[in-house]
Amino acid sequence: MSPDLEVELARLRLRNPAILASGILGSSYGLMRRVEEAGAGAITTKTITREPREGYLNPVFVDLEFGYLNAMGLPNPGITAFKMELRRAAENIRIPVIVSIGGRDESEFIEVAEQALDAGCNAIELNLSCPHVGGYGLEIGSDIRLACNIIRSIKSISSRPVFAKISVYQARPDIVSRYIGSGADGVTAINTIRAAAISVESMTPILSNIFGGLSGPCIRPIAVAAVYEIRRELPDVPIIGVGGVDGWRAALELILAGANAVGVGSAIARKDLEIFREIIEGLRGFLASRGFKSIKELVGYAQRL
Ligand SMILES: Cc1cc2nc3c(=O)[nH]c(=O)nc-3n(C[C@H](O)[C@H](O)[C@H](O)COP(=O)(O)O)c2cc1C
Repeated sequence: MSPDLEVELARLRLRNPAILASGILGSSYGLMRRVEEAGAGAITTKTITREPREGYLNPVFVDLEFGYLNAMGLPNPGITAFKMELRRAAENIRIPVIVSIGGRDESEFIEVAEQALDAGCNAIELNLSCPHVGGYGLEIGSDIRLACNIIRSIKSISSRPVFAKISVYQARPDIVSRYIGSGADGVTAINTIRAAAISVESMTPILSNIFGGLSGPCIRPIAVAAVYEIRRELPDVPIIGVGGVDGWRAALELILAGANAVGVGSAIARKDLEIFREIIEGLRGFLASRGFKSIKELVGYAQRL
């Protein structure tokens, strides 16, 4: 019998642990459908805010060869327009749709979450960690009390799972414990890491926003350490490990560190949605070759020593 890739993640049942990470693809119904057809276990939408946002001027994304740097500026259609896409997704898409929510304050988070829940999302991810948009993401997440208040408020209106997406700076068991104590059902670790690049030709910063977020294989060891440490101290917390997943080996590394599921982000720029099949087939092949029956057996396996 073929090994079982199904995982449970804070009451969500995923056919496999490979999740589309937030922000990588647009969040139209058509794209979500393509991600489902490509084999993903779940979809995380772009971060959605109350009002539409245009995002920053180009350049917003650069391939540094050892990784990627982006400062998109959280472009999104705003929750009112997005609701229509989400309704269609809720009706037709069979894998869980996790809506990523951004806000400048508690009331924006609540308003967007209310609408997303009303449109039928399966779970919520709170963006407490985007490192390059003033007033959003990390600026909110750096204030742990504020983040806990937001989590508490969202939990008071949501019976569906709520994940806190954290940056490397908050990826510490004591902080994660506070988030869980405030009601978070799990954490997504990690977001991109604040970074900048300068062109020596033009002698100017490459990104229009100067600062951006670093992603790709170069941040994987940082994500692995974050996941490992959280899992070691908090054995039962559902974790979505994100950072540098560019194939099944990288996905497995995060799972062995303790992730229940993994987010796939910038690798899609290089491998397109094909990467989901590659991860699924690779994981299945590994399990079969080592005599494991289920991927669940490998969550945190590297912690046994
Ligand atoms: C182009 C781009 C846009 C992103 N947009 C978001 C976003 O809207 N919300 C969010 O929480 N994370 C966003 N991220 C972060 C990713 O979800 C992920 O945490 C990070 O890129 C690390 O994973 P990776 O190395 O697989 O890309 C974005 C990343 C990239 C590269």
